[in-house]
Amino acid sequence: MTRYEAESATLSAGGTVDADHAGHSGTGFANATNAVGSYGEWTVTAAAAGAASLSFGYANATAATRPVDLSVNGQVVASGVTFPATGAWTTWSALTRTASLTAGANTVRVTATTADGPANLDYLDVSAP
Ligand code: GCU
Repeated sequence: MTRYEAESATLSAGGTVDADHAGHSGTGFANATNAVGSYGEWTVTAAAAGAASLSFGYANATAATRPVDLSVNGQVVASGVTFPATGAWTTWSALTRTASLTAGANTVRVTATTADGPANLDYLDVSAP
């Protein structure tokens, strides 16, 4: 398993790396903007092609889920992936999906489909096939 912190993610315009909610991994977390189309994107490396486990650390203190489209290398591989409420911005959970990666560098992006934007994103853990 390799951890990619959200501090090293690429965020759509206006997104910030924050550290005001404790309990996150690393030095902070990604706070993407509250807007449809707002995203966080990581570049991850796979030693070989195949199905990988993608585990997103996140927090969502609101009552509503925060749905995103999950894309790999520009292709949506899972739409309407909902990040459930965690109860507090300091309560972190993980959401895991499986997706195919190519050998070498891959972009993994979560793009909000509602005006709430994505949940606060802490990290992406990638486990090789
Ligand atoms: C609050 C919280 C942020 C969070 C935001 C949101 O402002 O402090 O960390 O990103 O809500 O609703 O997304």
